[in-house]
Amino acid sequence: MKDRPIGVFDSGVGGLTVVKQLMKEMPNEDIIYFGDTARVPYGTKSESTIRKFSIENVLFLLNFNVKLIIIACNTSSAIGLPFLSKFFSVPIIGVIKPGAKAAIRATRNGRIGVIGTNATITSGAYEQEVRSINPRIKVFSRSCPLFVPLAEEGWANDGIVEAAAKKYLSGFKEKGIDTVILGCTHYPLLKKAIGKALGKTVKLVDSAEETAREAKNLLEECGAKYPGKRTGRTKFYVSDAPEKFMDVAKKFLGKDVKAAEQVKDV
Ligand code: DGL
Repeated sequence: MKDRPIGVFDSGVGGLTVVKQLMKEMPNEDIIYFGDTARVPYGTKSESTIRKFSIENVLFLLNFNVKLIIIACNTSSAIGLPFLSKFFSVPIIGVIKPGAKAAIRATRNGRIGVIGTNATITSGAYEQEVRSINPRIKVFSRSCPLFVPLAEEGWANDGIVEAAAKKYLSGFKEKGIDTVILGCTHYPLLKKAIGKALGKTVKLVDSAEETAREAKNLLEECGAKYPGKRTGRTKFYVSDAPEKFMDVAKKFLGKDVKAAEQVKDV
């Protein structure tokens, strides 16, 4: 059990934020990453489609005998996780609960904002999670559908992102929010523009760190954490041509990673 890999999936490249933190937190674990680059984005799709994709991704990762699956995608965590946990015996965690916990720790005035894809925001998953931990906290949500294509386009530092952020987030200002959850894997890439639109006093929470910590705790609790001293290997699989993914992965993880393999049928 202990030397089995951890499986991670996302709709594309965004889940690499979680992989990066996992490598920091548990450098001796092997990781299998699946980026569903052929079917991204998930955030604009219906619940039944997101569930279908999520099940297929879990089934794909189970081929590698993974000991834990991390859904490193907010949309799939929001829509798919409650469903997947019922049907699979392998432990599965998402990014919603860790993100909610981190925001609750960060807020001083109990007013939290959540931004994400249409599917994540419509699901109300973050509000439910925050309220289940602390019902006194007020949560304000806003979907920002243009952020994913802007990040994919590599326009993180373009004025167009600042304009979109200003438009989406102006309503948050009058709500007196002091903490905002970046409830989408792509949004950390736009942190600068989002931070500028919200003002310096608002803390931005990215759930990747907290998710990696939760994964470590869970493996320790089940006695499934790799105990030895080795350098873990990470293998990447994608559903579309791997070149673009590899460019981003190398830049993002800051190291030379082995080429991703394209899978034909997930
Ligand atoms: N990975 C998705 C998320 O975190 C963003 C991209 C998409 O819409 O698939 O919600």
